[in-house]
Amino acid sequence: MRKPSTRQKQRNGVFYTPELLARALATPLINRGTRSVFDPSCGDGRLLHAAYRASRSRQGFRSAISFSGCDRALPHTKRTLGTAKLVRSDFIDYRPSTLFDVILMNPPFVRHHRLSRAQRAKCQAETASLLKVKQTSDLWAYFVLKAARHLRNGGSIGAILPWSFLSADYAKPLRIWLAERFSEIRVKVLSGSHFDDTKERVIIVWLKGYGTPASKISLEYSDDIHATGSKIPISSKDWAADTVVAGTQGQNIQKFLKRNIFSAGFTHLENHAKIRIGVVTGANEFFVLSRSAARRIAVQSDWRSPILSSAREFHALHFNGYRPPSLLIHFPKDPQKESIKSYLASGKRKKLHLRTHSQPRKPWFRLRREACPNAFFPYRVTDTPFMALNDSGLQSTNSIHRLYFKNLTTNQAKWLQVALLAAPSQLFFEARGRIYGNGILKLEPGILKRAPVLVSSKPLSIKAYRKIESLIIAGKRQAAVAAASQLIYKTAGIQPRIQATIDRMLLDLKLRRSGRGFRS
Ligand SMILES: C[S@@+](CC[C@H](N)C(=O)[O-])C[C@H]1O[C@@H](n2cnc3c(N)ncnc32)[C@H](O)[C@@H]1O
Repeated sequence: MRKPSTRQKQRNGVFYTPELLARALATPLINRGTRSVFDPSCGDGRLLHAAYRASRSRQGFRSAISFSGCDRALPHTKRTLGTAKLVRSDFIDYRPSTLFDVILMNPPFVRHHRLSRAQRAKCQAETASLLKVKQTSDLWAYFVLKAARHLRNGGSIGAILPWSFLSADYAKPLRIWLAERFSEIRVKVLSGSHFDDTKERVIIVWLKGYGTPASKISLEYSDDIHATGSKIPISSKDWAADTVVAGTQGQNIQKFLKRNIFSAGFTHLENHAKIRIGVVTGANEFFVLSRSAARRIAVQSDWRSPILSSAREFHALHFNGYRPPSLLIHFPKDPQKESIKSYLASGKRKKLHLRTHSQPRKPWFRLRREACPNAFFPYRVTDTPFMALNDSGLQSTNSIHRLYFKNLTTNQAKWLQVALLAAPSQLFFEARGRIYGNGILKLEPGILKRAPVLVSSKPLSIKAYRKIESLIIAGKRQAAVAAASQLIYKTAGIQPRIQATIDRMLLDLKLRRSGRGFRS
């Protein structure tokens, strides 16, 4: 039989758990009282096997445990587990006849847009009586929810989950739901990749004591699957936040910033700028064209606006003279040129006129002209985000935020740039942004607007500003953050002790996100 490709594996979520990880997941949940273990997406049964081995290694352990599992595509080679009962079934349809003591799972991480409409509807229907989960939920979320239904009172779940459990918007209600039903929640965030065939970074979640609201929630970060990192207690408020981030250096980051930064004269970014997401066309593949594609259909020059479409286009503190490779096309109401007519007809054949954003437009292809923003800020980044000024009349697609200043002088706008690059803002972004398993940091407008900034009326040293910009251009973003921080700390009179704590916290959080290793 041919081995499945990585694409096929992603579609079906087939990434088997390496033995060490399986053992780390199962061992803490198997005890003398365990009578039954179930895996809803058991693959070749390796999590059940790890549970079996954990039960055997416990001294004086005699109880007979029943092991069972289901999988939509049971492989031919299965681990031998004596009497284990493995059934071929979609877990969402599966109705086991008993409740279980322990449910172990590494559910399929299939992304919501890869689920068929029918599959999503089935998942929604099956879990609606427990919790109304968002349509944008990935498959694993339905698995976690449905698993709880098959648990006896006092039972436990051990799950290998993606990082989005801690930061996706659809995961927040699920986290709250779990905290209302499990007395102890422990999460271990693993750095690095632990699978042979995917780089997706994962977390281990142990949920204990089903039927009782949580009295203990903890998070730990570790490089090593087996090492017990220091468990950081998480309050139920922090657990219910958009992103769950454990404090660092013994500090709650939010409180620390409030006490030491906002009290020193910093204000929220929204006081100085209105933040809007980039232009929403509803069909960027049709309205945002490369220069050559625009030439091909003979788009007139006054119909085009240069548009930024990727955070990779941020190279300097200004877009002065920058010529983006993409153009936003404002088609006229009644085009005469044949090339344009046939292009619009091709859009209609693709049913673009029926899309949600097209329908209110008259005609469907006529985009509203919007005011050019004063500056841009990336939505998703892997590295240090910063604000770049728009001196070239650019627009941006919805992968880049647009900032419209509220009466800022040129000098104040530069202070704003420096402040957003400085360590307090960067720390805020790392703590409040959504972090994904591939190390991407996503900054929603609602988060960006709360960033701490210092907008001074003092003249900003041109030399210092140029130095920061040259570091950005040279790709030395850490050094640029250090230079910006120095300027901001001095102006706000931040104590060296506070500066040092901020720098250490920022480094910790950046290391956690990058997966290059955690510091305890
Ligand atoms: C990430 S693998 C984990 C397998 C095994 N539990 C392990 O840890 O090695 C996910 C498994 O989910 C199965 N699967 C995908 N969709 C499923 C569904 N709707 N119901 C049950 N199993 C499913 C896949 O066939 C695959 O074996």
